[in-house]
Amino acid sequence: MSIFPASDANWWRQAVVYQIYPRSFADANGDGLGDIAGITSRADYLQQLGVDAVWLSPFYPSELADGGYDVADYRNVDPRLGSLADFDKMLSALHSRDIRVIVDIVPNHTSDQHEWFQAALKAGRGSPERDRYIFREGKGPNGDEIPSDWVASFGGPSWTRVEDGQWYLHNFAPQQPDLNWSNPDVRADFVKTIRFWADRGVDGFRIDVAHMLVKDLSMDPLPTKEELDAIPVDGNHPMWDRDEVQDVYAQWRAVFNEYDPPRMAVAEAWVASDRVPRYANPHSLGQSFNFDLLEADFDAVQFRRIVTHNLSLAAGSGSSSTWVLSNHDVVRHPTRYGLPNPARRADGKPAIKHGQEWLQRDPDGPVLQREQGLRRARAATTFILGLPGSTYIYQGEELGLHEVYELDSSERQDPTFFRTHGEEVGRDGCRVPLPWTASGTSHGFGANGSHFPQPDWFGKYSVETEEGDLESPLRMYRSALALRKQLETSETMEWIETGRDDVLAFERPNGWKVVTNFGTEPYAYATDTVALSSEPVFVENGKVEIPGETTVWIAG
Ligand code: BGC
Repeated sequence: MSIFPASDANWWRQAVVYQIYPRSFADANGDGLGDIAGITSRADYLQQLGVDAVWLSPFYPSELADGGYDVADYRNVDPRLGSLADFDKMLSALHSRDIRVIVDIVPNHTSDQHEWFQAALKAGRGSPERDRYIFREGKGPNGDEIPSDWVASFGGPSWTRVEDGQWYLHNFAPQQPDLNWSNPDVRADFVKTIRFWADRGVDGFRIDVAHMLVKDLSMDPLPTKEELDAIPVDGNHPMWDRDEVQDVYAQWRAVFNEYDPPRMAVAEAWVASDRVPRYANPHSLGQSFNFDLLEADFDAVQFRRIVTHNLSLAAGSGSSSTWVLSNHDVVRHPTRYGLPNPARRADGKPAIKHGQEWLQRDPDGPVLQREQGLRRARAATTFILGLPGSTYIYQGEELGLHEVYELDSSERQDPTFFRTHGEEVGRDGCRVPLPWTASGTSHGFGANGSHFPQPDWFGKYSVETEEGDLESPLRMYRSALALRKQLETSETMEWIETGRDDVLAFERPNGWKVVTNFGTEPYAYATDTVALSSEPVFVENGKVEIPGETTVWIAG
């Protein structure tokens, strides 16, 4: 039961949402794995930080083949993380502090441990149980050739053969069989899941790989990988972003709207930006992640283009934009910004995942500029927090944490590492448990160590250390989130010309201004009302001198 005013159906439009990766946030029972009671125990911390909502990455029963994105039971809590009763306690602890809760729904695939997949294996070919997944005969006279040469997201083939000779599709790890969204059981079961959490009082849903669910694999033979990649993604692609996926979301939207206030939803849809409004409109999920900044350099020209474009997309679809610099799938932004910019392909996308080459610890690879990376991260964060729309922050970014590269092969958990035979180290480096204290067992994460080892330098970035430092990232985030309330009265901004390509400035309707110097030469701006700055600045004679790689907020 939500405690929020029923009329506040729009709370999400400019919310600051804090992403919790539950297994690495706080461990209350001392088993080395973060848990639900751990989140409850940190409710005051979240309130003091000033976030409007938390989004919980999956906490459901899972074999952890993909950090919980392999769900074995969608309507329960992993016993290692607690119980439904613990979940309810957490929900009321957060609600009573005015913090909403968003849960992650993973509809493209289940875990291979899910009762449906186990039943499908037993029931055999042609059975209704198999029809809930995507099973197919192989090629060749005995069907022992793989149905297609497609490559799964974490590397390796997209098809795995089962004992009786059929093959099943998995766009991710083999432990994540893709569901068949043409099957009515699948549709009905997810509606049940959504209602289950909405009835418990959950305020919103993050929809994992929202663009993938519905597929058309009726062709025989299947296209090759090369042919598949060449098909335009325009609503008719066999696999991605098919127009029919919107029928699923229209049905979900009707369910969300039965609640008061309506439940919000945000799509994780990796689609071309002109197709984003299909997900981010009031008849569909309502909001969609904008990941453009995850792929951008710390560069004024790129930031300006991305902001202008996404604000106009959001306005056109009746949604609000989202701003994201870090999440559980990418190298943390202070680290990205402390490394050389990645080379870019002809279409402007980074040629390699930013930071991967450094994570390999190649002795000839780039050296991380820790201080500069963090300085830029502070400037970029305060820039996006001044924008209209909602901001998603990832646990630990408020501490200025860098990516952890010091993990041994034997400590890695990400399927990417195993499926690429170590060629890509994967995403574990941003999933190391948070440092709450400067020293002590697992830096206050739990009483008995942590499922990933924390490096020595974590103490410097701990909550305890940063509490006592007025200039710390934690104190900066708190101040920004508190001041931001004054900006949330409108959803617009206007660019201010600065006379420099490497300096961006914009004004909100209440007269507040945000000025970011992406360059290295100082920039002087006439004001004597600096409300916040990402680095110390001096105001003299009615002017603030903004040093390089610094943002200031100016009160109206
Ligand atoms: C999630 C990943 C996950 C994948 C498969 C994503 O986009 O964010 O962490 O591995 O979906 O579920």
